[in-house]
Amino acid sequence: MCTPYRNYYRQRTANQWRKIPAEQGDPSAIRPFLAGNWKMNLIPLAGVALAARIFDLCRDVKDVDMGFAPPFTGLSTLADYITPDFLRREYGIGRNVFLLAQDTFFESKGAFTGEISADMLAAIGVDRVIIGHSDRRANLGKYFGFSSSVARRLSKEFLTHSLKRLALREEPDQKVLATIEHLLEEQHSDVLAGLATFLEAELNERAGESDEAIQRKVQAALSNGLQVILCCGENREAHKMNETFKLLERQIRIGLEGVARPTMSEVIIAYEPIWAIGEGANPASLEQIATVHDFIRNLLMDLYGEQIASRVRILYGGNVKPDNIVSMMQLAGVDGALVGGASLNAADFAKIIRFGLPDA
Ligand code: PGA
Repeated sequence: MCTPYRNYYRQRTANQWRKIPAEQGDPSAIRPFLAGNWKMNLIPLAGVALAARIFDLCRDVKDVDMGFAPPFTGLSTLADYITPDFLRREYGIGRNVFLLAQDTFFESKGAFTGEISADMLAAIGVDRVIIGHSDRRANLGKYFGFSSSVARRLSKEFLTHSLKRLALREEPDQKVLATIEHLLEEQHSDVLAGLATFLEAELNERAGESDEAIQRKVQAALSNGLQVILCCGENREAHKMNETFKLLERQIRIGLEGVARPTMSEVIIAYEPIWAIGEGANPASLEQIATVHDFIRNLLMDLYGEQIASRVRILYGGNVKPDNIVSMMQLAGVDGALVGGASLNAADFAKIIRFGLPDA
């Protein structure tokens, strides 16, 4: 296996993207980005301890960008620790270390209990924010019980009560009343029960942040000076039904709507097929990664032109490990990785950052 380039340009010839190696330190070259998403793990000091072990194993690694996404509670502590001066003095690294948040909210302030705005993140030194991770696009229904609350609303008791409540309003919506009355007719009780079961399963599987909410988050982050890591990816069913491209196109088109050409230098895309994420899953095949990354880059070319598309970093995520990062980085369309599980292990994540270099 040949060594993957650590810094490179990308060119399109004969309808194919190719990486061209660049001199180390060339400021105009593309720098891969290896980002660790810690998800809901590690108290603040444990996060600092992990980062310290990783820096120690990555002394003098300046040619790639590395990022750490602790939970919200760990951001300030890590921000205080990873100042460029300190990192340069202690580890010979510095400006290539980025602090990432795992999410942000789209409003800037107000009655949104539990949410964190983009300007709050910027104020404590966050550089980049992950937006649209599949844990939030697809798993919120499961965690927060949207499904059971919808199913409950389709029960006879709830609808009967609602009919009474709505009828008491000054100007009840006649259409809504007629629909509920219709659903409550005895001959429709099976339909109602079937609909409740269907929606419950559907929301359990899929409910989460919409493309539109993600678009607003992208806008909020960019307008507060944060860079964006926009995640996209298909679930197992879409993968099996060959709907990956259709789905990704929707996620990316809507997510990037309103992002002007000059601002695209602040955007990174992460392709994370949901079926390849987490313990027990297998990463996507190199062929699938290559095909999808090319698809995304060609879509970016349609939206922003070839020059911008050639430079946007597209990361892969989903069971990236020390033993597969090298072959992934050899692909012409892959500019780094968004790493979950393996980013919690210092030796593993350091090896991922050091892809193509000897171990520390
Ligand atoms: P994983 O997670 O590396 O544990 O598969 C990737 C992600 O969810 O970002």
